[in-house]
Amino acid sequence: MCIHNKGYIKPSTTSYHRNTMEILPLHLGVKNLVDSGLHKVPDIYIQSKEGRPNAVHREESFPVLDLGTALNSSKARAALVSQIREACVNWGFFQVINHGVPHSLVDEMLSVAREFHALPNEEKMRYFSTDTESRMRYGTSFNVTQDKVFSWRDYLRHSCLPLAEMQDLWPEKPASYKVTADYSTRVRNLAKFLLELISESLDLPKDYIDKAFNGCSQVMALNFYPACPEPDLVLGIGPHSDPGSITLLLQDHVEGLQVMHGNEWYSVKPIPYSFVVNLGDQIQILSNDKYKSPEHRAVVNSSEDRMSIPVAMGPSWESLVLPASELVEGSPVFKPMVYRDYMTAMQAGGLHRQWVLDTLRI
Ligand code: OGA
Ligand code: NI
Repeated sequence: MCIHNKGYIKPSTTSYHRNTMEILPLHLGVKNLVDSGLHKVPDIYIQSKEGRPNAVHREESFPVLDLGTALNSSKARAALVSQIREACVNWGFFQVINHGVPHSLVDEMLSVAREFHALPNEEKMRYFSTDTESRMRYGTSFNVTQDKVFSWRDYLRHSCLPLAEMQDLWPEKPASYKVTADYSTRVRNLAKFLLELISESLDLPKDYIDKAFNGCSQVMALNFYPACPEPDLVLGIGPHSDPGSITLLLQDHVEGLQVMHGNEWYSVKPIPYSFVVNLGDQIQILSNDKYKSPEHRAVVNSSEDRMSIPVAMGPSWESLVLPASELVEGSPVFKPMVYRDYMTAMQAGGLHRQWVLDTLRI
């Protein structure tokens, strides 16, 4: 194979390129596979019988929060905090509308992501890496060095902070990629607001989470799930919980995201211009198990490609995360862990069902 990771050099002295693995044809991604005209999915994508997509519930009362109301009065804000509390306790998932991120920016971000994935393979593979600690990489599945069954997904995944430094590393093509700077900043501000409401919903001061997490880290992904000839055998992304604080996910009009609730999968019907927000493991830890980071997955279909853009917020990398003493009655449920180590363990493990979270339970 003559494709190397030539486009990306980390500006630091630590050893970086750990792409010691041979690049196999399947590492070129699912889109490449589909474009080559296949009618059956290769065995490595076939989920075990129990893991396959099955019938799902459609839940009309899936929480949708109108953030526009919070700006009107302190009474409206208090009402929103109690809606968030209810959504966090019952689902760990909610959608937000009237969130202030301009619709035109959302449209631009979705088209940039589509354009990126439509680029020729050689262009995208410039950013290919199997190093899960890299601050920007193109990949497929979840972690191809670990996954026993591959996910039907290609992605570009990169950090957004520090913005000026990261911007230099982002793809040159499409030229419109620079919109990501504005988009990630707006979404970060929205996330900060939501984390204030979540703090308050735990009866903590509004800046509690921000202080406990020493600000934030921010990683975003451009997920592409090509239409699949045998969608009932595969998953776009297998069951997992997100490791960080909260994720704000933008999905296009194609249904595919599912959330586990009361031991059943529920499909999250896309609402145009909304964000799907889910709690991550660090909120479960900080809340001492009051809130749970929900398990979720994505399915694919035979007729349409699907795209999603999750922005995963987290504590700053060096933060030691532990249950808030205010929320501990008796002894804490989790041991402390530095967020960077948590991420490393999570990424390195591949998508296994043994959560890193469970290893921290006391
Ligand atoms: C993720 C994720 C779901 C989706 O990337 O962590 O859960 O709908 N994605 O793409
Ligand atoms: Ni996720």
